[in-house]
Formats: sequence, C-alpha cells, structure tokens
Amino acid sequence: MIIGVLNGPNLNLLGTREPAVYGTATLADITAHLERVATELGVQIRAAQANGEGQLIDILHGWRGEVDGVVVNAGAYTHTSIALRDAFTATALPFVEVHLSNIHAREPERRHSMLASASIGMVCGLGADGYEYGLRGLVRALGSRRA
Ligand code: DQA
Repeated sequence: MIIGVLNGPNLNLLGTREPAVYGTATLADITAHLERVATELGVQIRAAQANGEGQLIDILHGWRGEVDGVVVNAGAYTHTSIALRDAFTATALPFVEVHLSNIHAREPERRHSMLASASIGMVCGLGADGYEYGLRGLVRALGSRRA
C-alpha cells in the first residue's frame, strides 16, 4: 500500500512559522517520523508539498492509480478550495485531513473545511502527532475496506 502525504501552502515553513500555533517540528521532521511509522505499518509514503492550489491539484492527478490514499493538510485552502475537494472526488482518492491546530477553536473563517465532507475523517488540534494518527487511521480504514 502506498500513501501520499500532501501538504499545502506555508507548511514548508513549519518549525519557524508561528511556533506557538503550529509547534517547532519542521516538515522534514514530520515526514521522517511518518516514514518510520509507515515502515512499522508495512506501507510506503510519497510526500509532497506545494504552495499553489493548482500545483496541489496536479499532484493529486499524478497520484491517481499510484497511491491508495492521502493524508492531507491543505493549509488555508482547506477553508476555500472547492477545486481541491473536486480533485479528491475526481481522482477517487480516499483521504484523511490533518491540521496541527484545532481549527474549530480558531477564527470563524478557519472553522469550516471545504474538504471534510469528502474525507474519511479529520485529525486536528494534536500538533505534529496528528499526522501519525491520520496515517494510522487511513491505513486502518483502507485495510478494512479491502477486507
Ligand atoms: C492549518 C490550519 C489552517 O487554518 C492554516 O491556514 C494552515 C495550517 C493547520 O495545520 O492547523 O496553514 O491547516
């Protein structure tokens, strides 16, 4: 099983970006940890980050038929991008949404996710650990779909 890990805008700056909100782990730290968890789970990871909405959509199109599911933190596009949700439904890629911060406890404009209605589930507010929980949950969900 191959799992895509897709990170959206400004997440390349994790580590120095608003550490009080997003923590001090870099995206490289998070990805390295996910690689270890993936090894434990017997799955492979494809990791990508892009700042542009179209770039993220192109990455998903490229993953069609290549990955079995996606862990995604779409950053601010979470709250605005019907196009990104359409890319998930168009590619039929199952996904789990992750946010470092608790988007429901933040500004009103961050409390709605355009992606959530198409997702298997969401992990938010648990910091960088949320990526691990998202990966474990996605692999479990995909395994039970196949069984
Ligand atoms: C985020 C929350 C979003 O509102 C924000 O725009 C981000 C990061 C999170 O991981 O908490 O870029 O997705």
